[in-house]
Amino acid sequence: MYIFDMFDRKRPFILEQYTPLYYDSVYTELSDEQRLTYNQLSGIMANEQFCVFEHDVLAATCERAVQDPSLQTDQSLLADLRIIISDEHRHRQEFFDTMHAAMPEHYKNGYRFFTQVSWWKQKVANLLTSSLVDFRFLVWHALCIEEFSVSIGNALDASNHTTLGTIDPNYRALHCRHRDDELHHLPIGESLIESWVDVRSPRRKKVDYFLLNKWLLSLRTPRLAGIAVVNELIRQFPSLQPLQQRLHTAVCAVRHNRDYQQQFISPSATPRTWAAWNQRNECNNLLQQQAACL
Ligand SMILES: [Fe+2]
Ligand SMILES: [Fe+2]
Repeated sequence: MYIFDMFDRKRPFILEQYTPLYYDSVYTELSDEQRLTYNQLSGIMANEQFCVFEHDVLAATCERAVQDPSLQTDQSLLADLRIIISDEHRHRQEFFDTMHAAMPEHYKNGYRFFTQVSWWKQKVANLLTSSLVDFRFLVWHALCIEEFSVSIGNALDASNHTTLGTIDPNYRALHCRHRDDELHHLPIGESLIESWVDVRSPRRKKVDYFLLNKWLLSLRTPRLAGIAVVNELIRQFPSLQPLQQRLHTAVCAVRHNRDYQQQFISPSATPRTWAAWNQRNECNNLLQQQAACL
C-alpha cells in the first residue's frame, strides 16, 4: 500500500503534452499559476479516468471472463485473470488515494468528479460489463488501457521536465509503479483475446469490432472530463470566465490534433494492440478508422 497524502502544490503533476490546452494558443494566455493549476487538475482527472476504467471496464470485464463457462477448463488463464482483478482493485484504490489527497472536498462522496455522468448513462455503462450482455470486445479496450499505462509511465520515467517545473515525485512514482504491474498484465490480456474473442463466430466478431471502433472513437475527444477540468479551473479563477468558450473549443479541438492523438491509441503508444489488430483480417476497418485519427 502506497501512501500519497502529500503533493507538492508548486509542482506540475503530468507532462504537458497530455493536457489538451497545451496545443492551443489560449494556453499561453493563462498566467503561470493558472497553467500550473490546470496541469494539476488534468493530472488528477487522468488518475480519475484510470480509476474509472480500471474498475468499471478492466476489472469488470475480467470478472465476467472468469465466470464464463467456456473458459473454465483453462485454470492457468483463470489464475492469471484473478491476479489482474486483484491488481486492478489495488490500483484503483491507489489512484483514488492520490485524488482524495489532492482534492479531498471533490472526492468526499466517491471516485467520480470530472467523469460524472447522468444516472442513465451510468446504467448503460454498468450494462456493458454485466452478465446480461456479452460485450467481450471490451477486452480490447482493457488492453489499450494497459498499454497506455505503460506508455504514460515510460514517458514520465524518461522525463520529468515541463515548462512549469519538474513533475511532482509522488505522481511520477505512482505511474512508474503502475507501468511495472501493467507490463505483466499485457500477455494475459492477449491470451484472453485469443481464448475468448477470437473464438467467436465471424458474424459476432463483426459486431464486436464495429462496437469497439465506435467506442474507441468516442474516447478520442476528451469532451466530458476535459471540459469539467476547464470548468473547475474557471471556478478557481473567475477572471477566466470571458475565455470559457475558447477554452472549451480548444479542449475539443485535440480530436483532430495528430500529436495529441498519437499518445493514446496508435502504433507508438499501444504497439502490441496495434500489431494484434494488424494480424486479424476482421480488424481492417477498425485499423483504417483509428489510423485516420492520427
Ligand atoms: Fe492498473
Ligand atoms: Fe492491468
